[in-house]
Amino acid sequence: MKEFLAINESTLIVDTEVDCDLYIKSHVNGVPRYVLFSHGGEMFRGDRRRKLVENNIDKLYVYANSYKSFNDYQEQNLKTILADDGKSSGEKSNIVYSVAKNLTQELLNDTKSGVKMDRVTSWADNTVDYILKDENAFSNLIKVTSHDYQTYTHSVNVSVLGLLFGKFLGFSQDSMRSLGTGLLLHDFGKIEIPLDILNKPGSLTSDELKVVAKHPEAGISLLTKEDNILKESLVIVAQHHENYDGTGYPNRIGGNEIELFARVSRIIDAYDAITTNRCYKNALKPFSALLEMRENMASCFDTELFKEFICFLGNANTLIKTDQPGKYGMQGGDIASVQNHSCIQPSV
Ligand SMILES: [Fe+2]
Ligand SMILES: [Fe+2]
Repeated sequence: MKEFLAINESTLIVDTEVDCDLYIKSHVNGVPRYVLFSHGGEMFRGDRRRKLVENNIDKLYVYANSYKSFNDYQEQNLKTILADDGKSSGEKSNIVYSVAKNLTQELLNDTKSGVKMDRVTSWADNTVDYILKDENAFSNLIKVTSHDYQTYTHSVNVSVLGLLFGKFLGFSQDSMRSLGTGLLLHDFGKIEIPLDILNKPGSLTSDELKVVAKHPEAGISLLTKEDNILKESLVIVAQHHENYDGTGYPNRIGGNEIELFARVSRIIDAYDAITTNRCYKNALKPFSALLEMRENMASCFDTELFKEFICFLGNANTLIKTDQPGKYGMQGGDIASVQNHSCIQPSV
């Protein structure tokens, strides 16, 4: 039996072509039945939308194996979707995340067709606009970030969280675009790591660690072939494992020799990894993750920036307007502790 996936009717844009067949779900004697609503390639007209609204239908369905076409449709129309006042901020966050997830997955799986830089920068442009203009973007993006680790979900989490932190730090719109692009691609060099090492449950041998440690340089050598990637984005790929105390890799540079964006990414990258489930360890909750970073990794980070990050997550709680705080959201008591530990008594 074919598997269908639900999509929200409101993600469709009037007068656009949707490349995949769309179905309506009905029930006959309690058994679900999918009835063709429109063929792939057909124009979605205003009268079709009215018909759905009149019949209180807010979900349509696509074949699971055509979902990529639907995601491509969302990616191509992302600017319009994000500018549409009729769509909720939560819906927009879901689409921003899902477009980035599919794009990154494609980049990491299909290495032959290049990096598709125009698609990456277009996603970053649109996401930065959304984050800067929509005050609910924070709350909603935090809610949709993935709890389970894959290189592509980690890349999207790091990019989204880094952009929200960039807004908190007051970065310019142009800076945020380079930051978002660099963070989405920061682990791109991992495509050169053999899968048995990349997905190995448990700790790596010293030889395997040496292979993993090559991914920043591998990323740079792949990405410098691209014409339209900015230096500010590349620096993130090159330096995101450099530690502030000079003990990182690949070049063991330290302090402000490490560019600002790379110092930001060192913090975000570590935080996302610690708060994500891995096959060999469970995710830490946000507050425990911050304590772990403070107790055992503080010398890896730019001290002032790490203090800002703790304040950012503390302040974030006031922005989370939902009962489901999501992966990075903290509870009230945690916030007070974090602020006591770090914002009020800056001692990291
Ligand atoms: Fe990395
Ligand atoms: Fe990473």
